Amino acid sequence: MSTRIRTATGTRHTRILGVGAYRPARVVTNHEIASRIDSSDEWISSRTGIRTRRWAGPDETLTEMGAAAAGKAIAHAGLSPGQIDAVLVATITHFKQTPAAATTIGHRVGADAAMALDISAACAGFSTALALASDLVRAGSAGHVLVIGVERLSDLLNHDDRGTAFLFGDGAGAVVVGPAETPGIGPVAWGADGSQSDIITQSVSWQELRHDREVTFPFVQMEGQAVYRWASRAVAQVARTALDLAGITGGQLDAFIPHQANLRITDALVKALDLPTSVAVARDIVDAGNTSAASIPLAMDQMLASGEVNSGDTALLLGFGAGLAYASQVVTLP
Ligand code: UT7
Repeated sequence: MSTRIRTATGTRHTRILGVGAYRPARVVTNHEIASRIDSSDEWISSRTGIRTRRWAGPDETLTEMGAAAAGKAIAHAGLSPGQIDAVLVATITHFKQTPAAATTIGHRVGADAAMALDISAACAGFSTALALASDLVRAGSAGHVLVIGVERLSDLLNHDDRGTAFLFGDGAGAVVVGPAETPGIGPVAWGADGSQSDIITQSVSWQELRHDREVTFPFVQMEGQAVYRWASRAVAQVARTALDLAGITGGQLDAFIPHQANLRITDALVKALDLPTSVAVARDIVDAGNTSAASIPLAMDQMLASGEVNSGDTALLLGFGAGLAYASQVVTLP
């Protein structure tokens, strides 16, 4: 028997309707970190651009930080939590296999009936989740989607590792995606290069931790130089593809908001993309460190709050990191 079933009716266009952020209270200076790893404020700031980062306290859990950023994004969008149909949380620092962090954050924010799931795409997580959110709305599977990037990377750091201890920070950023009259989220350019999946990893798996009494708690480990080379060269092509897919050139952008990996990587990308000086460039890493999935929405919120960019401006987003995963799109700022 061939019975015809109904399908969902979506919307033609989507946009980011609101953004919000949460930064932990504690500011950690380079001096504090340098003494433990035989480094210096001068080395850290000249190699990465980082002056300070925030590390979360015991009460600033993934749920609390994610919900704080999400609540602000929902309010900025002029919506109520009950209007959220799906919650996507991009994170690599949720330390329970189940349930997903998205379920507790959704509940905490009052989006109780929403579909909720986590996305593991590391520093590409926010742009990846944003693309999925846009497609959910366009397909009619959800009316409004909450996208949250949240990390407590201080929990995953080996504080004695000279190659990573100074780089990472904590925080949360969120946006709400919904229907729009005109295109506000361009097509995504995304992918992953699993052949290089070993250059940023968790040191041991939960399974090894369970069965091998010799191993210590997992931490993030990285071949810094290899990541740096990939990020400052190959990733520019991903951004070019996103511009092409959106049908615009770098000169038509108001802002460039890449993942805040290292200020030198950001500068190399600006050069490779030949962006004019009129394009505002996110440099939130200076006082936030590298916050993985949270870095793009944190930087977006900061640039809007400081007046560096305005609602309605056109921005290129570019996420890249462990996997190696990457995702990029052009958006209209909320
Ligand atoms: O979010 C996505 C994932 N991560 C990234 O995007 C990070 C990408 N990589 C990087 O940002 C850089 O590789 C780092 C900032 C992590 C490291 O900078 P680097 O320039 O690649 O350092 P290196 O490991 O090549 O070391 C260069 C020098 C060495 O000294 P010599 O041999 O030239 O005398 C190291 O011993 O710097 C020395 N060094 C340090 N000195 C002070 C390495 N780490 C430190 C340190 N403090 N923490």
